Amino acid sequence: MVTTSRFHILGAGAIGCLLAHHLRQANYPVTLLLRNSESLLRFGSANSITITPTFSKQSGVQPIKTKGVEAEIVDSKETLSKIEHLIVTTKTYDTSLALSKVKERLTSNSTVTFLQNGMGVYEEILNKFYGKADQSEIPKFILGTTTHGCFRTEPFQVTHAGFGRLLLGAVDPAQRNTSQVQQTMKAFSQLDLEVQADQPFEVLRAKLLEKLVVNACINPLTATLGCKNGILLENEHSINLLKDTCYEASQIIQAEVGKTVTNLSYENLEKSVFEVCNATLDNKSSMLQDVSAKRKSEIDYINGYLVRLADSHNLPSPINRMWTQLIKAKTK
Ligand SMILES: NC(=O)c1ccc[n+]([C@@H]2O[C@H](COP(=O)([O-])OP(=O)(O)OC[C@H]3O[C@@H](n4cnc5c(N)ncnc54)[C@H](OP(=O)(O)O)[C@@H]3O)[C@@H](O)[C@H]2O)c1
Repeated sequence: MVTTSRFHILGAGAIGCLLAHHLRQANYPVTLLLRNSESLLRFGSANSITITPTFSKQSGVQPIKTKGVEAEIVDSKETLSKIEHLIVTTKTYDTSLALSKVKERLTSNSTVTFLQNGMGVYEEILNKFYGKADQSEIPKFILGTTTHGCFRTEPFQVTHAGFGRLLLGAVDPAQRNTSQVQQTMKAFSQLDLEVQADQPFEVLRAKLLEKLVVNACINPLTATLGCKNGILLENEHSINLLKDTCYEASQIIQAEVGKTVTNLSYENLEKSVFEVCNATLDNKSSMLQDVSAKRKSEIDYINGYLVRLADSHNLPSPINRMWTQLIKAKTK
């Protein structure tokens, strides 16, 4: 299929490169927006993205090289063309700064798809960059969530270790049928990544909130104890901590969405937390990896987001507040 819709990817790390590879496989033009000239030089010498799928023995572990991906520096003064489809795959805490570099290239005809863990980035970007903007100047926003698991081994080389799913939906239901949103959804639905594109926003939001709670329970606990996910299930005290964190999170979420959204009840959320823990016994959570490497973590967009939500409903959130402070104390 020949198409002219170009996808720009802001955040050429593990998820960004995985998407760039799959978009190229589906014949879409792709441009990586790189941080600086060193990164552009590194890409120039590799001149390709390499994906190694290790999730299935059947697919083997042969690296797959993708050529034909373009790259440019994110704030290059020379590159002023407007962006049609932007996919944002930076870490949540880097997004605002990264997006500020391309904001001038976005118009109301652009789509901006956030594919990140945690919540709150979309609201942050809207307030920071479009608080006073006329509706006609604001891009069309899409949120997504994925259970694929991948990591970078070298710049532009990614191991795709866990094959999952990817869900997407437009934030504003009124924009769902616009040609721009439909083009983005069509491209995603052609990717060999088990994509469920064009979800109604309420469905997507429920998934985002469910994943938020799962991460809010498992991530800070594994990062604090320095253990793999499965260890949490071997000890009654860590099980109690999972349950207590989940209970508080469920109360906050019910205040936000209403008690009638039954798939976000405490019972269902607790079931999800233990199911994910059981399915990922041998995994090191991303927060554990961040804390171990003394990197910044995404806690402000996970437990920190729940604290902000609780504050907005005048609800107490001592457990999620404690996790937020504890992880920040360990990483800063
Ligand atoms: N990896 C997974 O399996 C997975 C699964 C589900 C969800 N997620 C979520 O997806 C998001 C991305 O995760 P990831 O694992 O792909 O992270 P990652 O490998 O660290 O990639 C992030 C990329 O963003 C780039 N970046 C940061 N600031 C930038 C700036 N100002 N300008 C240009 N580029 C910038 C980084 O550039 P440098 O290389 O120059 O630092 C890096 O390449 C996170 O929210 C994560 O929680 C990841």
